[in-house]
Amino acid sequence: MTSKRAIITGVGHYLPDYVLTNKELESYVETNDEWIRTRTGISERRILKDPDKATSYMGEKAAIEALEDAGVAAADIDTIIVATVTPDYMFPATAALVQKKIGADNAYAFDLSAACSGFLYALSTGGMMIESGRAKKVLVIGTDKMSSIIDFTDRTTCILFGDAAGAVVLEAGEEGGIIDFVHHTEGDEQCMLYQPAGGSMNPASEETIKNKGHFIRQDGKSVFKKATEGMADVSLEIMERNNLTGEDVAWLVPHQANLRIIDATARRMGLDKEKVMINIGKYGNTTAATIPLCLYDWKDQLKKGDNIILSAFGGGLTWGAIYLKWSR
Ligand code: UT7
Repeated sequence: MTSKRAIITGVGHYLPDYVLTNKELESYVETNDEWIRTRTGISERRILKDPDKATSYMGEKAAIEALEDAGVAAADIDTIIVATVTPDYMFPATAALVQKKIGADNAYAFDLSAACSGFLYALSTGGMMIESGRAKKVLVIGTDKMSSIIDFTDRTTCILFGDAAGAVVLEAGEEGGIIDFVHHTEGDEQCMLYQPAGGSMNPASEETIKNKGHFIRQDGKSVFKKATEGMADVSLEIMERNNLTGEDVAWLVPHQANLRIIDATARRMGLDKEKVMINIGKYGNTTAATIPLCLYDWKDQLKKGDNIILSAFGGGLTWGAIYLKWSR
């Protein structure tokens, strides 16, 4: 069996229509546009308002667009991996719902939970399936309806997140594609970033609802410190082990949690601002969707042979980076 490379052949996205501005947030909590923009870089985010639509709906839309972009039929997909922390249900997997919706009848499908690093964990997993020869075409989706776990009376979290999905098709190729990845995990025993209730530790009850346990909780300062170190460290780690300098890197695709974290990462990598994909201003932090959303927004500017570093940090705690060469 000759060893194959996993290359991205299609990119898709989905953004809900509703735009939640900083101005509107000023009417919910004690905050202001200036604070949000200077502390986070966010001006607005999208919210999926339709009560009968959830994470799998956005994943479906992004997947269909990615398949069209790749010129691949849904029936030819071997595996679907959905990264999410806001599944439609605890089970079945959101990936199974997407599989049905898009008619990928020959694919097996599963979810992967790694919060904001979810898309990178999923992309490297899908990549290894292709490299091993076990799969020929893999759909990797990052989709999160963060508004479903946001407390819109908590100003420390409600300003940060948005809803969206992004997807890529991975296929076997001869050169380029995913060259290397590094992932790290440090179990978050202090619960710096988590959703306390709804799982087997604190199943839903009157008490969990009263305590707002089904909403995201974050110690912003501690996570900020960890994220700033972690994202920069892992980006440098992957550059060093592949003998890349800032000059060699065409693009940094960073997870979009806070503009200050992105800037610090780019600085430590020695990258000019023009090489950094930043769309946090328009979408906020869409958790598993941020990185494929960037790839979608910049796809017309990517050139064959470009060295691209994808980098993320999130709940878990999880962090990681992927080095890929654009190959289409
Ligand atoms: O993607 C997953 C990983 N998540 C992250 O990477 C997020 C990491 N954390 C962050 O991005 C930042 O910590 C935040 C944006 C959440 C907060 O920014 P900060 O610069 O760390 O602010 P802070 O928590 O130190 O708060 C500074 C002040 C406080 O007031 P005092 O105590 O100085 O009087 C807060 O109460 O700002 C206040 N504050 C706000 N003021 C206006 C907190 N939230 C708000 C708000 N509007 N929304």
